Amino acid sequence: MCGIVGYVGFRDAADVLMDGLSRLEYRGYDSAGIAIFENETIRVAKSKGRLADLEQKMQQDGKPSGHAGIGHTRWATHGEPSDRNSHPHAGGNVTLVHNGIIENYKKLKEFLISQGRDFSSDTDTEVVAQLLDYYYQENHNNPIDAIIRVRQELEGSYALGVVFADFPDRVFALRKESPLIVGIGENESFIASDMTALLQYTRNYYLLEPGEIAVLSKKKAKIYDLHYQEVRKELKTADWDVSAAEKCGYEHYMLKEIHEQPEAIKTTITPRITDGLPNLEECGITPETLLNFHKIHIVACGTAMHAGTVGKYVIEKLARVPVNVDIASEFRYREPLVSENDLVIIISQSGETADSLAALRLAKSLGAKTLAIVNAKGSSIAREADMLIYTHAGPEIAVASTKAYMVQIAVMYLFAFELALANRRIDEAECRRLTALLQETPDQITEILENKSMTQMIAMELITADSLLYIGRGLDYALSMEGSLKLKEISYIHSESYAAGELKHGTISLITENMPVIAIATQKGLFDKTISNIKEVKARGAKVILVCREDYIPDADIADFKFGLPDFDDLLMPMLAVVPLQLLAYYTAVHKGTDVDKPRNLAKSVTVE
Ligand code: G6P
Repeated sequence: MCGIVGYVGFRDAADVLMDGLSRLEYRGYDSAGIAIFENETIRVAKSKGRLADLEQKMQQDGKPSGHAGIGHTRWATHGEPSDRNSHPHAGGNVTLVHNGIIENYKKLKEFLISQGRDFSSDTDTEVVAQLLDYYYQENHNNPIDAIIRVRQELEGSYALGVVFADFPDRVFALRKESPLIVGIGENESFIASDMTALLQYTRNYYLLEPGEIAVLSKKKAKIYDLHYQEVRKELKTADWDVSAAEKCGYEHYMLKEIHEQPEAIKTTITPRITDGLPNLEECGITPETLLNFHKIHIVACGTAMHAGTVGKYVIEKLARVPVNVDIASEFRYREPLVSENDLVIIISQSGETADSLAALRLAKSLGAKTLAIVNAKGSSIAREADMLIYTHAGPEIAVASTKAYMVQIAVMYLFAFELALANRRIDEAECRRLTALLQETPDQITEILENKSMTQMIAMELITADSLLYIGRGLDYALSMEGSLKLKEISYIHSESYAAGELKHGTISLITENMPVIAIATQKGLFDKTISNIKEVKARGAKVILVCREDYIPDADIADFKFGLPDFDDLLMPMLAVVPLQLLAYYTAVHKGTDVDKPRNLAKSVTVE
């Protein structure tokens, strides 16, 4: 939610900030703004809308010019998207950008109004700017003292990039909860919400811990704790290169990321397989630790929760250990029954989702052991969990998640295989067979990706629909949830996923010839049952798009279109079947002309409740 950047160095700061923001736009794109020191005074340019609107505004009004500044791209929380609510916000000597939410902003605002201060926006962020200026004046114009004082007052989550008019060659930063890194270059330093914003300039960075303050100058970046003690930190190096965060000839990031899936699976699973068997020891998971858990809870949001649902089916089927899947925002407030013998798995691409992080903390407070499956290195969820499996999807830029989901389910399979072997539900030979099949999935997916024309053609059939149904049984049902979410988030066509056998208990009344049905039937054991359900909707006029094995030839009373998949083991079919569902959503959105990578109202990293 919101992306922030800051720069001090020798380059044109506006260019660096705009470039960084363009790579952070996935975090929000309601409005954007920058503040630059121009001849020792702060010049702000900001605008409602995308970065392109800000660019246009700067072309008209003149681009601020200088070598130090801060920037922001917004996903609105307090106050509608508008010019006046866009960041940066100012108060006296202070101008700042903010990612997060200040929960006690009303109380602080009342205090500041009682001190004679006026406000020009509806945001919680302006309260921080005014409060910082208030303490700056009270603390004899010492910026760090003022930041430390404000830190004591603020409740909520925040990452702040701050400039003080009196310090034209410095950028200050403070972090609590919301992510922030400090990038280190030659004679330049940076702050950013994530590393993708900086890859063009440097791959070296410090991870700012909650409560730490950074002071950037051209020559160096210093980091302090809340007692004003300098902190020595390990300089980290990102293992991504610039191309990881660029489109590389693809029309959209989403399409590029769909194509990156085979490689992402290999990079994620290969280091976790030894001698043909899963080996999660480097993640803190051994067969012995696994035997301690009587019950598993998988907690996540959005696509990550759907990956957890596939995980539930696979773990229960193979390892016979009960698994609950919970939406993190529900789990955290419903007093969940979690005990010390339980394992709570948190799945998150960003590792910063507010509800998932809160769920993790709750699980720990209840005495459960926690395992994080996270893509973003060094993120809060990754750092706080007892055990950690990093997925190696690389940066995922498109808001609609594809490759992150794929590697999350790949990890779920590895975990299930290891657990099933540990509790002797499968023998070593079966575990080897399954692991080998998992290793084959990248090649199978590559083959599916070579045949995109069918999904392109079927997508044309969907663009006029107002509403769609996705149906399936067992693992196909688990998968249909993700297919449906993908379609609605980027094409804006309403869709629902339904267990095929449950349709007749109400939802079938919605079926008309205007309601296409995407039927997923990859599970051999359930195939005939699903086909019966498909016939039921076909008989009521629905246009049916069937995703099934290649060798099945449906009659006209079953499907209008078929997408055929290679013949593969039932258990692993979701890894193949998700690909046409992703492509179908993608091409439907492309045909409709929506903003595929930045769908309306969404943000990729949701750091608010
Ligand atoms: C947002 C994103 C989704 C994502 C969800 C959970 O809603 O748009 O793509 O699945 O957050 O994010 P996480 O980073 O925890 O996986």
